[in-house]
Amino acid sequence: MRSVSLLLSSLPILPFAAGRGISLPARAPAKQDGKAAYASAMRRWGKRDVSSGLWVGNRLGEETLEAQSHENDAFFTVDIEVGTPGQTLPVILDTGSSDTWVYWAMTDFSDLPGDEKPAYYDPYQSSTARQITDAEWDVQYADGSVASGPVALETISLSNLTLTSATLELANTSSILANSTSGILGLARSLRTSVYPHDVPTIKERIAGAGAHFLNIDLRAGSGGSYSLGDLDDSVEGISWSEGGDEHWTVEVNVFYVEKGEGEGGQAVGNGSAAGFVGVVDTGTSLLFVPGLYVTAYWIGVPSARHDPVLDMWIFPCSGAESLPDVVLEIAGTGKGGAFEAVVPGAYLNFGSIEEGWVGGGVGGGGPAEEMCYGGLQSADGIGVDAVLGDVFIKSQFIVLGLEDGKVGLAKKDLEGDATP
Ligand SMILES: *[C@@H]1O[C@H](CO)[C@@H](O)[C@H](O)[C@H]1NC(C)=O
Ligand SMILES: *[C@@H]1O[C@H](CO)[C@@H](O)[C@H](O)[C@H]1NC(C)=O
Ligand SMILES: *[C@@H]1O[C@H](CO)[C@@H](O)[C@H](O)[C@H]1NC(C)=O
Ligand SMILES: *[C@@H]1O[C@H](CO)[C@@H](O)[C@H](O)[C@H]1NC(C)=O
Repeated sequence: MRSVSLLLSSLPILPFAAGRGISLPARAPAKQDGKAAYASAMRRWGKRDVSSGLWVGNRLGEETLEAQSHENDAFFTVDIEVGTPGQTLPVILDTGSSDTWVYWAMTDFSDLPGDEKPAYYDPYQSSTARQITDAEWDVQYADGSVASGPVALETISLSNLTLTSATLELANTSSILANSTSGILGLARSLRTSVYPHDVPTIKERIAGAGAHFLNIDLRAGSGGSYSLGDLDDSVEGISWSEGGDEHWTVEVNVFYVEKGEGEGGQAVGNGSAAGFVGVVDTGTSLLFVPGLYVTAYWIGVPSARHDPVLDMWIFPCSGAESLPDVVLEIAGTGKGGAFEAVVPGAYLNFGSIEEGWVGGGVGGGGPAEEMCYGGLQSADGIGVDAVLGDVFIKSQFIVLGLEDGKVGLAKKDLEGDATP
């Protein structure tokens, strides 16, 4: 059986909006950039700088990809450049899958709602496009969406990090069609791609091989935030490290608290000992999914929240959005930071109003319609993994993924000024 690729971004009811192009401004040079200092010393002394052969500009640690939020943070895209000359494509950076694919000149767009096609890749306009003629790919994501087609070797640039002859999968068909994104950049921990019959290097392996040690993730509610590739962001303090798991980037959650109001203290759900669960850090998933037991314990404390059997989701009256309690995930960790307390603000657990015209499901309906909102915390039961720490979680923490050592780092960040739904 093929391993599961996680991508649960598509809430079926949320329409996709048209995307906007975004640029990739440079981050200010880090104060201590050992690798760049080393490279410049090598140049100075006339030695060949082999460490940065794939980098334009030789400035490891500064490759920032601005993230663009779409549809109330349902998904985040970054712009990549594909081919020569570069064709700019907005793609979802997905830490829960390993296939990197884009729409292309032969994609069947007939199922796309609206008139405007997303930006797509045209190999006939690129001097570096090559096809692996005997290979195909075919991926199925955890939410049931699928994509498949031929496989190319092509130049892919992430900010100034340029990968030559990288594996680029081309989508002949895809059930993810949306006009604001052109594909997916898969950066799972060690999951293989779906390309067959050959095993091809993943983009994550190529990025690590080019000398980028870390992917720093700083997604922001409403505004998008950023990803950066290279060294550790040295402005971040108190990182707590986890070993990181196997195919996916995982952490162990030991305790799950629902915060009560001011001064009332938190209430731990479950037994807080070895009865923890494993969560996958997945930027390709919008919501926070944890075992159903914890989800029920959270929502029964929210007045008039209920599990809607038609949507198969927890929903709650939007009028209560401002008083949603915070949740705290206590995550096992080592290093300076030790165990890590990840607080997800209650405001992040409001995933926005259910569209007009929705009549509700279940028995007992029929009263004057109260505006209901989607919960940002939902049950992971049946997904195939214990828990998926999606964008709802990721937006509220600073996260760093070790591209070489496979570790997951977590640190607190200031959320002041970030939007709430
Ligand atoms: C990328 O390289 C160009 C040209 O060398 C430079 O102007 C720009 O600042 C660099 N951007 C980043 C993000 O390093
Ligand atoms: C993009 O798709 C949405 C539906 O998903 C549609 O309402 C919108 O009109 C489309 N935008 C364009 C520019 O075609
Ligand atoms: C993809 O589409 C092209 C053009 O229609 C076709 O030639 C090719 O066989 C298809 N490849 C796969 C793997 O479906
Ligand atoms: C608490 O955790 C222990 C160790 O995993 C387990 O054996 C026990 O069944 C759990 N108790 C409850 C009430 O969940």
